[in-house]
Amino acid sequence: MREKLVAVMSNKKKLFIKTYGCQMNVYDSERMAEALGTSGYDPVGTPEEADMILLNTCHIREKAAEKIYSELGRYRPLKDAKPDLKIGVAGCVAQAEGAEIMQRQPMVDLVVGPQTYHRLPEMMKQVDAGQKALDTDFPEEDKFDHLPKRDLPKRGPSAFLTVQEGCDKFCAFCVVPYTRGAEVSRSPGRILREAQDLVERGVREINLLGQNVNAYQNDDWGLTQLIWALNDIDGLERIRFTTSHPNDMTDDLIEAHGSCEKLMPYLHLPVQSGSDKVLKGMNRQHTAEQYIRLIERFRDARPDILISGDFIVGFPGEEDVDHQATMDLIREVNYGQAYSFKYSARPGTPAAERAFVAAEVADVRLQELQALITQQQRALQEAMVGQKVKVLIEKKGRLQGQMIGKSQHLHAVHVAEPAIGGALNIGDIYSVGIIKSETNSLGGEVIHT
Ligand code: 5AD
Ligand code: SF4
Repeated sequence: MREKLVAVMSNKKKLFIKTYGCQMNVYDSERMAEALGTSGYDPVGTPEEADMILLNTCHIREKAAEKIYSELGRYRPLKDAKPDLKIGVAGCVAQAEGAEIMQRQPMVDLVVGPQTYHRLPEMMKQVDAGQKALDTDFPEEDKFDHLPKRDLPKRGPSAFLTVQEGCDKFCAFCVVPYTRGAEVSRSPGRILREAQDLVERGVREINLLGQNVNAYQNDDWGLTQLIWALNDIDGLERIRFTTSHPNDMTDDLIEAHGSCEKLMPYLHLPVQSGSDKVLKGMNRQHTAEQYIRLIERFRDARPDILISGDFIVGFPGEEDVDHQATMDLIREVNYGQAYSFKYSARPGTPAAERAFVAAEVADVRLQELQALITQQQRALQEAMVGQKVKVLIEKKGRLQGQMIGKSQHLHAVHVAEPAIGGALNIGDIYSVGIIKSETNSLGGEVIHT
């Protein structure tokens, strides 16, 4: 019996996926692992153990393709030692580079774009027959209709769920409209079934994903209707969504932040710049003032909402006054979290043709901006000390008797397990009194009510 089991196990091939970039890629990697599960692959944690290595790539910022080529180069000794090793490139670099990848790095067997990975099982048949497989279509069919049902065993308490993909905004710096294609929204029925299924497998928090998630529109359903329907799922405790665009914001979505119990007080709303001149050059189609008014409306609906954003410094044409306008906007909004980047020219985008800001100037601006954000972020964290927050426990901490979870405001919280009352359960929500604020996390103790 035992021997038979060992034989069965050794039949299974091993898949290593390395994920770059955004949360949507994290979700896509999970779905690709499931799709390849039907071709007999089980996930493993290191490339050395793998029979197949798949890089799920991101193309949003500088030298993305070069980084992938050098990563592929590192797999050469593995391929030499195990000639049957299959190597694939997926995601946005695959979409942008296509067949070029196999020309430059012939040991790559498979190239698949973000919209066609439901075809992986078919592509693997080609690869197993010793051929190369390439698919970077934007197909008519919806990949989600063709992916295997999500039959993962029990999983962590927080999950991503992609509801919308693609972008029609064409910001002048961004490759997403080219790599991910036009805006498409999945059907609410399928999304709700997937959510229900995730909850049955132990998920307590769902983060709805979309490149422009608040542009979600399927028949009469917008993002707000989806959120209210999720609010009715028993066992689901928290709903989040990311990333939004200011121009797709609706009154009902703002209002839901005040009335929908499970919707968390957190909003990631990129603005990129505080200068109207730069916003115009970026083709953002909104002003700094419009953005600030939007944030005010969210704060009216939910006064404790934590605001997060994205910024680009050194966009072509950005002068000191423009940078100061961005700093002013940041001071006015007061961010709890933000991601900031130095502009990088992406081939094929309109801004790539324009005159660059000197790298040294952009570096100084980035440092200045990040220092201000860090200051705001720390101050908001410090302000949590002495407050009671609700923490969804996600995993064990490194220290004995310590668990790690997230507050409603997405702060990481280290929670000491109480001496009396026993261990804390992963997936449960506890009231926690915050007693300290550290660089990137809070610390606290469970409050018994
Ligand atoms: N250069 C720098 N940052 C960029 N982003 C997108 N494209 C670029 C680029 N070419 C940033 C934006 C976006 C985030 C996901 O990445 O801030 O909101
Ligand atoms: Fe890129 Fe702009 Fe679309 Fe965001 S809204 S994905 S930055 S084009």
